[in-house]
Amino acid sequence: MKRQPRSSPRSGKTRRTVSIIGTGSYVPEKILTNADLMRMVDTSDEWITTRTGIKERRIAAKDEHTSDMATKAALAAMEQAGVSAKEIDLILLATATPDMMFPSTACLVQTKLGATKAACLDISAACAGFLFAIEIAQQFITSHTYETVLVIGAEKLSSITNWNDRNTCVLFGDGAGAAVLRHRGSAHGVIATHVGSDGTYADILFMPGGGCRTPITLENADKNLQTIHMSGKDVYKQAVIAMLAASKTVLGQAGLTIDDIACVIPHQANLRIIEAIADRLKIPLDRFYVNLDRYGNTSAAAVAIALDEANRTGRIKSGDYILMVVFGGGLTWASTVIEW
Ligand code: ACO
Repeated sequence: MKRQPRSSPRSGKTRRTVSIIGTGSYVPEKILTNADLMRMVDTSDEWITTRTGIKERRIAAKDEHTSDMATKAALAAMEQAGVSAKEIDLILLATATPDMMFPSTACLVQTKLGATKAACLDISAACAGFLFAIEIAQQFITSHTYETVLVIGAEKLSSITNWNDRNTCVLFGDGAGAAVLRHRGSAHGVIATHVGSDGTYADILFMPGGGCRTPITLENADKNLQTIHMSGKDVYKQAVIAMLAASKTVLGQAGLTIDDIACVIPHQANLRIIEAIADRLKIPLDRFYVNLDRYGNTSAAAVAIALDEANRTGRIKSGDYILMVVFGGGLTWASTVIEW
Protein backbone atom coordinates (compact mmCIF):
# COMPACT_ATOMS: atom_id res chain seq x y z
CA MET A 1 0.00 0.00 0.00
CA LYS A 2 1.18 3.51 -0.78
CA ARG A 3 2.69 5.17 2.29
CA GLN A 4 1.17 8.52 3.34
CA PRO A 5 3.63 11.41 3.72
CA ARG A 6 3.97 13.05 7.13
CA SER A 7 2.93 16.55 6.04
CA SER A 8 0.24 15.64 3.52
CA PRO A 9 -3.16 17.21 4.07
CA ARG A 10 -4.48 13.64 4.09
CA SER A 11 -2.52 13.01 7.26
CA GLY A 12 -4.70 15.53 9.08
CA LYS A 13 -2.76 18.80 8.81
CA THR A 14 -4.55 21.83 7.41
CA ARG A 15 -1.57 23.26 5.50
CA ARG A 16 -2.54 24.59 2.07
CA THR A 17 -1.10 22.23 -0.55
CA VAL A 18 0.83 23.79 -3.39
CA SER A 19 0.80 21.95 -6.71
CA ILE A 20 2.76 22.25 -9.91
CA ILE A 21 -0.11 22.57 -12.39
CA GLY A 22 1.96 22.97 -15.56
CA THR A 23 5.54 22.62 -16.78
CA GLY A 24 7.38 23.83 -19.86
CA SER A 25 10.87 23.99 -21.30
CA TYR A 26 12.85 25.33 -24.19
CA VAL A 27 16.32 24.61 -25.55
CA PRO A 28 17.99 26.46 -28.41
CA GLU A 29 18.27 24.84 -31.83
CA LYS A 30 22.04 24.84 -32.17
CA ILE A 31 23.70 21.60 -31.01
CA LEU A 32 27.36 21.58 -29.98
CA THR A 33 28.65 18.00 -29.93
CA ASN A 34 31.74 16.56 -28.30
CA ALA A 35 33.18 16.23 -31.82
CA ASP A 36 32.66 19.97 -32.32
CA LEU A 37 34.50 20.68 -29.05
CA MET A 38 37.42 18.54 -30.21
CA ARG A 39 37.94 21.12 -32.95
CA MET A 40 37.99 23.95 -30.36
CA VAL A 41 40.11 22.61 -27.46
CA ASP A 42 42.40 19.67 -26.73
CA THR A 43 39.77 17.12 -25.67
CA SER A 44 38.10 13.91 -26.85
CA ASP A 45 34.63 12.41 -26.96
CA GLU A 46 35.97 9.56 -24.84
CA TRP A 47 37.27 11.92 -22.07
CA ILE A 48 34.08 13.98 -21.93
CA THR A 49 31.79 10.92 -22.01
CA THR A 50 33.60 8.90 -19.36
CA ARG A 51 34.21 11.87 -17.00
CA THR A 52 30.81 13.55 -17.37
CA GLY A 53 28.30 11.53 -19.44
CA ILE A 54 27.73 14.57 -21.69
CA LYS A 55 27.48 13.98 -25.46
CA GLU A 56 26.09 17.31 -26.66
CA ARG A 57 24.70 20.62 -25.42
CA ARG A 58 22.55 23.45 -26.85
CA ILE A 59 23.94 26.91 -27.56
CA ALA A 60 21.73 29.99 -27.82
CA ALA A 61 21.95 32.26 -30.85
CA LYS A 62 23.83 35.56 -30.46
CA ASP A 63 20.58 37.51 -30.26
CA GLU A 64 18.77 34.92 -28.10
CA HIS A 65 19.01 35.83 -24.44
CA THR A 66 18.06 34.30 -21.09
CA SER A 67 14.77 36.25 -21.07
CA ASP A 68 13.84 34.92 -24.54
CA MET A 69 14.40 31.28 -23.53
CA ALA A 70 12.65 31.87 -20.20
CA THR A 71 9.61 33.33 -21.96
CA LYS A 72 9.30 30.32 -24.30
CA ALA A 73 9.51 27.87 -21.39
CA ALA A 74 7.01 29.94 -19.41
CA LEU A 75 4.48 30.03 -22.28
CA ALA A 76 4.64 26.23 -22.56
CA ALA A 77 4.09 25.84 -18.80
CA MET A 78 1.22 28.34 -18.80
CA GLU A 79 -0.44 26.58 -21.74
CA GLN A 80 -0.27 23.23 -19.98
CA ALA A 81 -1.57 24.79 -16.76
CA GLY A 82 -4.37 26.63 -18.58
CA VAL A 83 -3.25 29.88 -16.95
CA SER A 84 -3.22 33.24 -18.73
CA ALA A 85 -0.52 35.88 -18.25
CA LYS A 86 -2.97 38.17 -16.46
CA GLU A 87 -3.53 35.56 -13.74
CA ILE A 88 0.12 35.41 -12.65
CA ASP A 89 0.76 37.10 -9.30
CA LEU A 90 4.51 36.51 -9.02
CA ILE A 91 7.36 35.63 -11.39
CA LEU A 92 10.48 34.13 -9.81
CA LEU A 93 13.35 33.61 -12.24
CA ALA A 94 16.41 31.66 -11.12
CA THR A 95 19.52 32.42 -13.14
CA ALA A 96 23.25 33.04 -12.96
CA THR A 97 23.18 34.63 -16.41
CA PRO A 98 20.64 37.47 -16.32
CA ASP A 99 20.21 39.59 -19.45
CA MET A 100 21.60 42.52 -17.43
CA MET A 101 22.72 43.20 -13.85
CA PHE A 102 19.45 45.10 -13.49
CA PRO A 103 16.56 45.28 -14.04
CA SER A 104 15.81 41.68 -13.18
CA THR A 105 15.34 39.24 -16.04
CA ALA A 106 12.00 38.37 -14.40
CA CYS A 107 10.84 41.94 -15.20
CA LEU A 108 11.86 41.48 -18.84
CA VAL A 109 9.91 38.21 -18.99
CA GLN A 110 6.91 39.93 -17.42
CA THR A 111 6.80 42.38 -20.31
CA LYS A 112 7.24 39.68 -22.95
CA LEU A 113 4.37 37.68 -21.40
CA GLY A 114 2.12 40.63 -20.62
CA ALA A 115 1.84 39.46 -17.01
CA THR A 116 0.94 42.96 -15.91
CA LYS A 117 -0.12 42.27 -12.31
CA ALA A 118 2.89 40.09 -11.41
CA ALA A 119 5.59 41.09 -8.94
CA CYS A 120 8.95 40.01 -10.37
CA LEU A 121 12.35 39.11 -9.04
CA ASP A 122 15.42 37.07 -9.91
CA ILE A 123 16.78 34.39 -7.58
CA SER A 124 20.57 34.04 -7.35
CA ALA A 125 21.36 30.55 -6.10
CA ALA A 126 23.35 29.23 -9.08
CA CYS A 127 22.40 25.67 -10.12
CA ALA A 128 20.13 25.31 -7.06
CA GLY A 129 18.03 28.37 -7.95
CA PHE A 130 14.96 26.63 -9.39
CA LEU A 131 14.24 24.73 -6.17
CA PHE A 132 14.95 27.82 -4.05
CA ALA A 133 12.30 29.54 -6.20
CA ILE A 134 9.87 26.64 -5.75
CA GLU A 135 10.28 26.98 -1.98
CA ILE A 136 9.67 30.75 -2.08
CA ALA A 137 6.64 30.27 -4.34
CA GLN A 138 5.28 27.69 -1.96
CA GLN A 139 5.64 30.02 1.03
CA PHE A 140 3.77 32.83 -0.76
CA ILE A 141 0.93 30.50 -1.81
CA THR A 142 0.71 28.73 1.54
CA SER A 143 0.43 32.07 3.33
CA HIS A 144 -2.39 33.12 0.94
CA THR A 145 -0.29 36.08 -0.27
CA TYR A 146 -0.44 34.93 -3.90
CA GLU A 147 -2.57 32.44 -5.82
CA THR A 148 -0.55 31.79 -8.98
CA VAL A 149 3.24 31.83 -9.19
CA LEU A 150 5.40 31.30 -12.29
CA VAL A 151 8.80 29.81 -11.47
CA ILE A 152 11.51 29.76 -14.15
CA GLY A 153 15.08 28.48 -14.33
CA ALA A 154 16.89 29.91 -17.36
CA GLU A 155 20.52 30.22 -18.41
CA LYS A 156 22.71 31.37 -21.25
CA LEU A 157 25.86 29.81 -19.79
CA SER A 158 27.57 30.00 -23.20
CA SER A 159 27.88 33.75 -22.53
CA ILE A 160 30.07 33.21 -19.41
CA THR A 161 32.00 30.15 -20.61
CA ASN A 162 35.70 30.40 -21.37
CA TRP A 163 35.77 28.57 -24.69
CA ASN A 164 39.55 28.13 -24.44
CA ASP A 165 39.38 26.32 -21.07
CA ARG A 166 38.86 22.59 -21.64
CA ASN A 167 38.30 22.07 -17.90
CA THR A 168 35.00 23.93 -18.03
CA CYS A 169 33.82 24.54 -21.61
CA VAL A 170 32.83 20.91 -22.17
CA LEU A 171 30.37 20.98 -19.26
CA PHE A 172 27.81 23.70 -19.93
CA GLY A 173 24.82 24.45 -22.15
CA ASP A 174 21.88 26.86 -22.54
CA GLY A 175 18.15 26.43 -21.97
CA ALA A 176 15.13 27.16 -19.78
CA GLY A 177 12.45 25.35 -17.82
CA ALA A 178 9.36 26.63 -16.05
CA ALA A 179 6.54 25.60 -13.74
CA VAL A 180 3.24 27.18 -12.71
CA LEU A 181 2.34 26.69 -9.04
CA ARG A 182 -1.04 27.05 -7.43
CA HIS A 183 -3.19 25.60 -4.66
CA ARG A 184 -5.41 23.23 -6.59
CA GLY A 185 -7.67 21.85 -3.91
CA SER A 186 -6.40 18.28 -4.12
CA ALA A 187 -3.89 16.61 -1.86
CA HIS A 188 -1.26 16.29 -4.59
CA GLY A 189 1.58 18.80 -4.36
CA VAL A 190 4.76 19.78 -2.59
CA ILE A 191 5.14 17.68 0.56
CA ALA A 192 8.45 18.95 1.93
CA THR A 193 11.29 21.22 0.85
CA HIS A 194 14.77 21.79 2.22
CA VAL A 195 17.22 24.54 1.20
CA GLY A 196 20.73 25.27 2.45
CA SER A 197 23.91 27.22 1.74
CA ASP A 198 27.57 27.35 2.76
CA GLY A 199 29.42 30.50 1.73
CA THR A 200 32.77 29.21 3.01
CA TYR A 201 33.12 27.35 -0.30
CA ALA A 202 32.29 30.39 -2.45
CA ASP A 203 35.66 30.18 -4.22
CA ILE A 204 35.32 26.67 -5.67
CA LEU A 205 32.71 27.68 -8.25
CA PHE A 206 32.32 31.33 -9.14
CA MET A 207 32.58 34.10 -11.70
CA PRO A 208 34.94 36.73 -10.28
CA GLY A 209 34.28 39.51 -12.79
CA GLY A 210 31.25 41.66 -13.51
CA GLY A 211 30.25 42.62 -9.96
CA CYS A 212 31.33 45.71 -8.01
CA ARG A 213 34.45 43.99 -6.67
CA THR A 214 35.92 43.31 -10.10
CA PRO A 215 34.13 45.40 -12.70
CA ILE A 216 34.50 44.56 -16.36
CA THR A 217 37.58 46.32 -17.73
CA LEU A 218 39.70 45.44 -20.76
CA GLU A 219 42.37 44.12 -18.40
CA ASN A 220 39.93 41.93 -16.46
CA ALA A 221 38.38 40.67 -19.68
CA ASP A 222 41.85 39.65 -20.91
CA LYS A 223 42.19 37.54 -17.75
CA ASN A 224 38.81 35.90 -18.46
CA LEU A 225 37.44 37.03 -15.11
CA GLN A 226 33.94 37.30 -16.63
CA THR A 227 33.81 33.53 -17.12
CA ILE A 228 33.13 30.51 -14.89
CA HIS A 229 36.00 29.49 -12.59
CA MET A 230 35.74 26.06 -11.03
CA SER A 231 37.75 23.67 -8.92
CA GLY A 232 36.25 20.52 -10.46
CA LYS A 233 37.38 17.96 -7.89
CA ASP A 234 36.19 20.08 -4.93
CA VAL A 235 32.84 20.72 -6.60
CA TYR A 236 32.42 17.02 -7.32
CA LYS A 237 33.11 16.08 -3.70
CA GLN A 238 30.85 18.75 -2.19
CA ALA A 239 28.07 18.01 -4.70
CA VAL A 240 27.88 14.36 -3.65
CA ILE A 241 27.97 15.20 0.07
CA ALA A 242 25.36 17.98 -0.13
CA MET A 243 22.93 16.26 -2.52
CA LEU A 244 22.99 13.07 -0.49
CA ALA A 245 22.37 14.92 2.79
CA ALA A 246 19.65 17.09 1.22
CA SER A 247 17.90 13.99 -0.14
CA LYS A 248 17.90 12.30 3.26
CA THR A 249 16.78 15.45 5.08
CA VAL A 250 13.77 16.11 2.86
CA LEU A 251 12.72 12.45 2.88
CA GLY A 252 12.85 12.56 6.67
CA GLN A 253 10.73 15.74 6.71
CA ALA A 254 8.21 14.07 4.39
CA GLY A 255 8.11 10.90 6.49
CA LEU A 256 9.00 8.83 3.42
CA THR A 257 11.91 6.58 2.48
CA ILE A 258 13.81 6.43 -0.80
CA ASP A 259 11.86 3.26 -1.64
CA ASP A 260 8.66 5.34 -1.80
CA ILE A 261 10.14 7.55 -4.52
CA ALA A 262 9.12 6.68 -8.09
CA CYS A 263 11.55 9.07 -9.76
CA VAL A 264 14.52 11.16 -8.62
CA ILE A 265 15.13 14.28 -10.70
CA PRO A 266 18.62 15.51 -9.80
CA HIS A 267 20.70 18.47 -10.93
CA GLN A 268 22.09 17.54 -14.33
CA ALA A 269 25.79 18.36 -13.87
CA ASN A 270 27.65 15.12 -14.26
CA LEU A 271 26.58 11.47 -14.57
CA ARG A 272 29.31 10.41 -12.13
CA ILE A 273 27.80 12.62 -9.43
CA ILE A 274 24.37 11.06 -10.06
CA GLU A 275 25.86 7.53 -10.02
CA ALA A 276 27.59 8.25 -6.71
CA ILE A 277 24.31 9.44 -5.18
CA ALA A 278 22.38 6.43 -6.54
CA ASP A 279 25.02 4.16 -5.08
CA ARG A 280 24.89 5.79 -1.65
CA LEU A 281 21.07 5.89 -1.59
CA LYS A 282 21.16 2.22 -2.63
CA ILE A 283 18.77 2.62 -5.55
CA PRO A 284 19.30 1.73 -9.22
CA LEU A 285 20.36 4.45 -11.64
CA ASP A 286 17.21 3.94 -13.72
CA ARG A 287 15.18 5.49 -10.87
CA PHE A 288 16.86 8.82 -11.82
CA TYR A 289 15.74 11.01 -14.70
CA VAL A 290 18.86 11.93 -16.69
CA ASN A 291 19.09 14.18 -19.76
CA LEU A 292 22.55 15.70 -19.28
CA ASP A 293 23.84 13.60 -22.19
CA ARG A 294 21.74 15.85 -24.48
CA TYR A 295 22.00 19.25 -22.75
CA GLY A 296 25.07 19.26 -20.51
CA ASN A 297 24.80 21.31 -17.34
CA THR A 298 22.32 24.16 -17.79
CA SER A 299 22.62 25.29 -14.14
CA ALA A 300 19.31 26.70 -12.80
CA ALA A 301 17.48 25.45 -15.90
CA ALA A 302 18.66 21.85 -15.62
CA VAL A 303 16.25 20.39 -13.10
CA ALA A 304 13.39 22.44 -14.57
CA ILE A 305 13.96 21.07 -18.07
CA ALA A 306 14.29 17.55 -16.67
CA LEU A 307 11.02 17.94 -14.71
CA ASP A 308 9.19 19.08 -17.83
CA GLU A 309 10.55 16.18 -19.90
CA ALA A 310 9.71 13.65 -17.18
CA ASN A 311 6.20 15.11 -16.99
CA ARG A 312 5.52 15.27 -20.73
CA THR A 313 6.94 11.81 -21.50
CA GLY A 314 4.91 10.14 -18.73
CA ARG A 315 8.01 9.22 -16.74
CA ILE A 316 6.22 10.69 -13.73
CA LYS A 317 2.53 9.97 -13.22
CA SER A 318 -0.24 11.35 -11.05
CA GLY A 319 0.17 10.05 -7.52
CA ASP A 320 3.92 9.33 -7.83
CA TYR A 321 6.22 10.63 -5.15
CA ILE A 322 9.15 12.39 -6.80
CA LEU A 323 12.35 13.70 -5.26
CA MET A 324 14.17 16.66 -6.82
CA VAL A 325 17.65 17.50 -5.52
CA VAL A 326 20.09 20.16 -6.69
CA PHE A 327 23.46 21.67 -5.88
CA GLY A 328 25.32 24.74 -7.08
CA GLY A 329 27.81 27.52 -6.53
CA GLY A 330 27.56 29.39 -3.27
CA LEU A 331 27.52 26.71 -2.17
CA THR A 332 23.79 26.17 -2.39
CA TRP A 333 21.66 23.05 -2.30
CA ALA A 334 17.98 22.20 -2.18
CA SER A 335 15.63 19.24 -2.28
CA THR A 336 11.92 18.75 -2.52
CA VAL A 337 9.49 15.85 -2.37
CA ILE A 338 6.33 16.21 -4.43
CA GLU A 339 3.29 14.01 -4.78
CA TRP A 340 2.67 14.43 -8.52
N1 ACO B 1 39.50 16.94 -22.11
C1 ACO B 1 40.62 16.25 -21.88
N2 ACO B 1 41.33 16.34 -20.75
C2 ACO B 1 40.86 17.18 -19.81
C3 ACO B 1 39.71 17.95 -19.98
C4 ACO B 1 39.01 17.81 -21.19
N3 ACO B 1 37.89 18.47 -21.46
N4 ACO B 1 39.50 18.68 -18.88
C5 ACO B 1 40.49 18.39 -18.03
N5 ACO B 1 41.33 17.50 -18.59
C6 ACO B 1 42.54 16.90 -18.05
C7 ACO B 1 43.14 17.75 -16.95
O1 ACO B 1 43.95 18.76 -17.50
C8 ACO B 1 43.94 16.71 -16.20
O2 ACO B 1 45.14 16.49 -16.90
P1 ACO B 1 46.52 16.29 -16.08
O3 ACO B 1 46.29 15.06 -15.25
O4 ACO B 1 47.51 16.12 -17.18
O5 ACO B 1 46.67 17.53 -15.28
C9 ACO B 1 43.10 15.45 -16.33
O6 ACO B 1 42.21 15.68 -17.42
C10 ACO B 1 42.29 15.14 -15.10
O7 ACO B 1 41.64 16.33 -14.71
P2 ACO B 1 40.74 16.34 -13.43
O8 ACO B 1 40.24 17.73 -13.19
O9 ACO B 1 41.46 15.65 -12.33
O10 ACO B 1 39.56 15.44 -13.93
P3 ACO B 1 38.37 14.86 -13.10
O11 ACO B 1 38.38 13.40 -13.18
O12 ACO B 1 38.26 15.47 -11.75
O13 ACO B 1 37.15 15.35 -13.96
C11 ACO B 1 35.46 17.05 -13.89
C12 ACO B 1 36.93 16.74 -14.15
C13 ACO B 1 34.61 16.35 -14.93
C14 ACO B 1 35.21 18.56 -14.00
C15 ACO B 1 35.13 16.53 -12.48
O14 ACO B 1 36.02 17.05 -11.53
C16 ACO B 1 33.76 16.85 -12.08
O15 ACO B 1 32.82 16.23 -12.51
N6 ACO B 1 33.57 17.83 -11.20
C17 ACO B 1 32.28 18.26 -10.80
C18 ACO B 1 32.12 19.58 -11.31
C19 ACO B 1 30.92 19.76 -12.13
O16 ACO B 1 30.19 18.90 -12.54
N7 ACO B 1 30.75 21.03 -12.38
C20 ACO B 1 29.70 21.45 -13.15
C21 ACO B 1 29.30 22.77 -12.61
S1 ACO B 1 29.01 22.68 -10.95
C22 ACO B 1 27.43 22.41 -10.73
O17 ACO B 1 26.67 22.42 -11.63
C23 ACO B 1 27.03 22.18 -9.44
